[in-house]
Amino acid sequence: MKIFVYHTPEEIPNNRLPGCAVVIDVLRASSTIAAAINAGASAVQVFSDIEPLLEASETVEEDKRIRAGERGGRKVKACEFGNSPLAFTPENTEGRRLFLSTTNGTRCSESVRNASKVIMASLTNRQAVVNSLATKRPGTVWLVGSGWEGSYSLEDTVCAGAIIDGILAVGKTPLSKLAGNDEAIAAVSLFRQWQDQLLELLTSASHGQRLLKMRGKADVAYCSQLDVLDTLPIQKGLGIFVQRKPGVIEKTCEFLGRLVGRKPVNIPAVANPDVEAPAPEAKAEAKKPTTSKKAAAKVDEKAETPKAEAKPKGKDTPAPKVEAKPKAKGPAAKSLTAGAPKGAAPPKAKTEVKPKVEAKPQAKAEEQTFFSGS
Ligand code: MLT
Repeated sequence: MKIFVYHTPEEIPNNRLPGCAVVIDVLRASSTIAAAINAGASAVQVFSDIEPLLEASETVEEDKRIRAGERGGRKVKACEFGNSPLAFTPENTEGRRLFLSTTNGTRCSESVRNASKVIMASLTNRQAVVNSLATKRPGTVWLVGSGWEGSYSLEDTVCAGAIIDGILAVGKTPLSKLAGNDEAIAAVSLFRQWQDQLLELLTSASHGQRLLKMRGKADVAYCSQLDVLDTLPIQKGLGIFVQRKPGVIEKTCEFLGRLVGRKPVNIPAVANPDVEAPAPEAKAEAKKPTTSKKAAAKVDEKAETPKAEAKPKGKDTPAPKVEAKPKAKGPAAKSLTAGAPKGAAPPKAKTEVKPKVEAKPQAKAEEQTFFSGS
């Protein structure tokens, strides 16, 4: 697996596509999409323009849809919602399709929509993205920041760094081998520098500042949380994102886990030498030799244990202690989701003319067949 970081959609190569494209718009589009899907949205359909959004939304009954639009950080008049992740609660979102258009995030998503696999990433669902990439290990991954109208966004690059750092934590592949470009290494360094002060970084970033001036403090605080959602929005049909359904292996492991009363585990890549063995308890589980194995192990034991001195019957050599790798931070629903930004009547938002970024033609997709499953 090679991971490339592009700070804005304008930087991505225009003659090829990755096995997996990861769209990042921490402030706020990808955080909003993860929050809406976590609140039970049946799907999120993204548009770079408002008109096609309004047209498409007319094909869905009113009580089965939500329309959300943002320009310049403010709500678009024709839509019920703006782009605040705090606006989407189970009460107003469960079972509805969200039609969303924003200044940069949805435009970025359109620029890579022809890739075999497209995931939405933010700081809130970083671990879910890491688990998917570490499990599926696509040959080439693009982490694409949405930026702000073509310019660099600090918060998107720190999120790219957090994802790579998470993959390094569950694998043995060194950064020098994993990084596909220098931007990837720089992103990891940025994350390691700021990983305990993400809120401070987001409030110092230019778009964070912009949102704070529009009373977006709660949104910035919400978007700065790390690994609080176990949600993975994945593209199913051009521009349509749904929650990724756990694969057969994950379901089986979770079922087995519940069977023996264990909390669901994060599934590292299966049968991939590069990935460190799962946590000791899982290892112990895996170690419980089946009968034939038992016989084989006996043979081995006999073979392995140096015939130094004949030991009295029944005394076994204690198994060497396996130091468990510090686990990456676990997802937990934290409390910043309470309540949508209430009250303030948003000022009229001007529809801005945006630089058109053509969706990259269906160039030779590198890993077409890899993701036949989810
Ligand atoms: C965007 O897509 O540009 C952002 O999400 C804008 C915002 O809503 O803050």
